Amino acid sequence: METPLINGRTRVVGIFGDPVEHTFSPAMHNAAFAALCLNFAYLPFRVRKEELPAAVAGLRALGLVGVNVTVPHKEAVLPYLDEVTPEAKLIGAVNTVVNRNGRLTGYNTDATGFLRALREAGCEPAGAEAVVLGAGGAARAVCMALGMAGARRIVVFNRTYERAQALSREVQANTETTAVALPWEDLNKRKADVFQAAGVVIQTTSIGMHPEKSACPAVSPAAFRKNQLVVDLIYNPVETRFLQMAAEAGAATQNGLRMLLYQGIAAFELWTGSSPPEEIMLQGLAAMKGA
Ligand code: ATR
Repeated sequence: METPLINGRTRVVGIFGDPVEHTFSPAMHNAAFAALCLNFAYLPFRVRKEELPAAVAGLRALGLVGVNVTVPHKEAVLPYLDEVTPEAKLIGAVNTVVNRNGRLTGYNTDATGFLRALREAGCEPAGAEAVVLGAGGAARAVCMALGMAGARRIVVFNRTYERAQALSREVQANTETTAVALPWEDLNKRKADVFQAAGVVIQTTSIGMHPEKSACPAVSPAAFRKNQLVVDLIYNPVETRFLQMAAEAGAATQNGLRMLLYQGIAAFELWTGSSPPEEIMLQGLAAMKGA
């Protein structure tokens, strides 16, 4: 199918972030627009922190259909929107904005994308016992998604212990899930049992991400087992050392590409009202590897 040319009717979506040079999202969305002959274009917008209010006003003024929002704006954007879904409000972060005639609604498709990826890998979050490494923005979306989906228990390890405590308190306060915080130093102590009890382990920190590919959280290989799913939200490299170690110990593994794909699919549906060609979006992402 031919790629529609940009013309006077082209509708614009994009991503607000800083940095944005390395984003995979334009490749994923533009491939889908082309395949469906939708006259849309997805552009990167580098928005500095202090320019976020102006950028949101610009989104309205220019009539953009919507945007993805990424680091460092996911939390800061909330006050500038007209409404925020209950899920996004609970997570405290928005990654997708939809502009309906100047009225801006914030969504969190990271959470829905994460849950879909988890289910696809055969892990039902309802009743699950999970271990989460990290307590930053990504961990927050993961923990709240697990909480909202009815996970039984989440154990959060984080380098800055106070952040792990704050996140687990919030999960406990807002969902039915039991949440426990443990210090990062405990990872390489006698905590293999905490991991062994977990059906799913989710690595959300940047440890092991390109270009620091040899880095790995100090978890013992004895932490992993068969019939356990180990997810690393990193997708570059495709297999982190952490995932490699889990796979060698017999666990099922999943990298962050699926969550990226599914959050993108959910955003695409919100903006266009159409179901995207998922395989083509995945190919768009795959083409970015090593870019
Ligand atoms: P994101 O939105 O990707 O989650 P973030 O909010 O900056 O980004 O969070 C980064 C996470 O990775 C945090 O949990 C961070 O730990 P701290 O809360 O102690 O900062 C974790 N992290 C990053 N580098 C790390 C390292 N070298 N060792 C341990 N944890 C690390």
